[in-house]
Amino acid sequence: MQIMDGKHVSQVVKNDLKGKVELRKKNGLKVPHLAAILVGNNGASETYVASKVKSCAEIGYISTLIRLDADISEAELLFKINELNEDFDVDGILVQLPLPKHIAEQKVIETIFADKDVDGFHPESVGRMVQGLPTYYPATPFGILLLLEHYKIETAGKHAVVLGRSNIVGRPISILLNRNSYPGNCTVTVCHSHTHNLKDICLQADIIVAALGRPEFLTADMVKDGAVVVDVGITRVEDKSKKSGFAIKGDVKYDEVAPKCSFITPVPGGVGPMTIAALLMNTYKACLAKE
Ligand code: GUN
Repeated sequence: MQIMDGKHVSQVVKNDLKGKVELRKKNGLKVPHLAAILVGNNGASETYVASKVKSCAEIGYISTLIRLDADISEAELLFKINELNEDFDVDGILVQLPLPKHIAEQKVIETIFADKDVDGFHPESVGRMVQGLPTYYPATPFGILLLLEHYKIETAGKHAVVLGRSNIVGRPISILLNRNSYPGNCTVTVCHSHTHNLKDICLQADIIVAALGRPEFLTADMVKDGAVVVDVGITRVEDKSKKSGFAIKGDVKYDEVAPKCSFITPVPGGVGPMTIAALLMNTYKACLAKE
């Protein structure tokens, strides 16, 4: 069993980007600029956005963090996004999800200009991805592809089972694993809350991507020997023994599943850091696209 070390691979990606940014600076070229909007005080979102902003600084990007109150109106948020759309210096815009209930997420996603959509959530970006056209891939699925590529994992002809059909992870990774490219060319089954015989389907999988948000859902009896397991779960569960008061749990019961796998991602330190690396790659691409 080999661990797919997202912390390490994300550092490799970040070092590469850092070098490219230094070169751009030396040549008097523009440095990538990411604008992140955080609405309210959701603890997990605070952590993710802080991590994204910190990573920008580490590799020499400019970042702008815009914090808005939880009770901001939808119109005010859309106005702010439009300001960033019009700001030539800003290359990429992300609005951290989830948003407070009174704001329509889809409207927010569709307001971000597609050429600044480094999260890859805009219907134009998704449509282009489905058709195999150049676009921004959503960061988590893109990060998973980078990880599979780094560890040279064979994917062609493999049966990939995706658990979850969210717009952020499940559905896009199912499309990307199915595309005619590497990593890709998988036969993909997408499972969800209505799926019958989930265990039998998982047992047929060469590759499992667990993206349900249900802590320790995938157990050893659901995984065949030699499978590749990618754990996207990052649920906070109460743990009084921790200073923070919570522990982070993946969707995979790691201790019992790992010995059966050829490759597996840990939580934390697997997919999480790769999501940030992928976002930084998208932002770099958005910066280049203007030239
Ligand atoms: N919430 C959970 N994952 C993501 C992500 O990749 N981007 C944004 N904007 N919000 C998220």
